[in-house]
Amino acid sequence: MKILVFGASGAIGQEITAELLRRGHSVVGVTRTAAPVEGLDVQFVQGDAADAASVAVLAQGVDAVVSAVGPRRGSENDEESLVGAARGLVEGLRLAGTRRLIVVGGAGSLEVAPGQRLVDTPDFHPAWKPAALAHARALDEIYRAADDLDWTYVSPAAVIEPGERTGSYRTGGDQLLTDEAGDSRISIPDYAIAIADLLDSGGAVRRRITVAH
Ligand SMILES: NC(=O)c1ccc[n+]([C@@H]2O[C@H](COP(=O)([O-])OP(=O)(O)OC[C@H]3O[C@@H](n4cnc5c(N)ncnc54)[C@H](OP(=O)(O)O)[C@@H]3O)[C@@H](O)[C@H]2O)c1
Repeated sequence: MKILVFGASGAIGQEITAELLRRGHSVVGVTRTAAPVEGLDVQFVQGDAADAASVAVLAQGVDAVVSAVGPRRGSENDEESLVGAARGLVEGLRLAGTRRLIVVGGAGSLEVAPGQRLVDTPDFHPAWKPAALAHARALDEIYRAADDLDWTYVSPAAVIEPGERTGSYRTGGDQLLTDEAGDSRISIPDYAIAIADLLDSGGAVRRRITVAH
C-alpha cells in the first residue's frame, strides 16, 4: 500500500514508519520541517496536518493516511494544535478522496469506570491534561463525526514507552485496558505493530480502539 505518515519523525511515528517499511509498504513521511531521521530510510516531505489544502495535495492517490502528530511545543496550546490537525486531516482527506485514516490518539478519554474518563481521575498528571483533553475533543467532535471516512482512532495504553518488540498486544474499545497488576502499558514497537496490523486488515472502521500489553 501507499501510505502517508504525518509525524513520521516523532517517537511513535518513527516506529510506525519502520514497521510499515518492514512489511513492504511504500511510505512517505510528512512533517512541518521535512527533516530526515538518521537510520530511517524514508522520504520526508513538508506538510502541515492542520492545513487541509496541504493534506489534500499530499493525500491524493494514497491508500491510507496515518497521523502520529504531537502537540506543538512552545507557545501554541495543545488544544489548538491537536484539534486543528484533526480538522485539517479530515477535511484534507475528503478533498483528496482518500478514505482510510488511522489516528494515534490519547489514552485520557478511555473510561476507567462507566462514565468516568482516565483524564478526570484525581491522579491524572496535570502536565498531560491539556493534551489529553484536546485528544478527547478531537475524537468526540471531529473523528466521530466523520462518517464519510474509514477512520480508526487508536488510544495507546496509559503508558506508552520505548521497549521490547514482542509482537503481542491486546485490543479493547472505549475502556482502559490494564494487566493483572493494574498497570496499563504498551511498548512503542508493539503499538506500531498494532497500527500496521490495522492497516493490513482494514478493520475497526469508524471506531476507537485501544492497544495494551
Ligand atoms: N498515553 C497517551 O495518551 C500518549 C502517550 C504518548 C503520546 N501520545 C500521543 O501520541 C502522539 C505522538 O506522540 P509522540 O511522542 O510520538 O510525538 P513527538 O515525538 O512530539 O512527534 C510529533 C511529530 O509530529 C510532527 N508534527 C507535529 N505537528 C504537525 C503538523 N501540524 N503537521 C505535520 N507534522 C506535525 C512532528 O514533526 P515537526 O515538528 O517537524 O512537524 C513530529 O514528527 C501525540 O499526539 C501524543 O499526544 C499519547
